[in-house]
Amino acid sequence: MPADSSNRQTLVEATIQARLRAYAPYSKFFVGAALLHSSGEIITGANVENASYGLTICPERAATFTAVAKGLTDFEAIAICVEGAGAPCGACRQVLHEFAPNLVVLMTDPTGELIRETTLDQLLPDSFGPENLTTS
Ligand code: THU
Repeated sequence: MPADSSNRQTLVEATIQARLRAYAPYSKFFVGAALLHSSGEIITGANVENASYGLTICPERAATFTAVAKGLTDFEAIAICVEGAGAPCGACRQVLHEFAPNLVVLMTDPTGELIRETTLDQLLPDSFGPENLTTS
């Protein structure tokens, strides 16, 4: 299911709601993510911090790992919601690349305004992925 205008809007609403569930008492930087699977299913994530700061996970990875654990790996798009509509961090770009190198990336702020749209291959050029691990 391609990311058309109606499921884009659903995806943006899902990431706004996911952001409200972020656990970020240390940074107070609340971030949501919503992944669109090719079946139309949406899987969400939020950043979850920890008193041991380095154990924090971003919403893009949280959503990806939840989806994979549900048997869903064929992703069409991700919407990310944060104040200022920031781009995913390098670690999340790498994790998403594993499953969807051409993923559509939608960046929205908490009002739902779509600030920027790009693709993962633009955010992670000259990438390393499963294709690089072929042997012999
Ligand atoms: N964070 C994200 O959720 N996404 C990013 O791309 C960068 C940072 C989170 C992690 C942490 O909870 C907070 O923002 C401050 O770094």
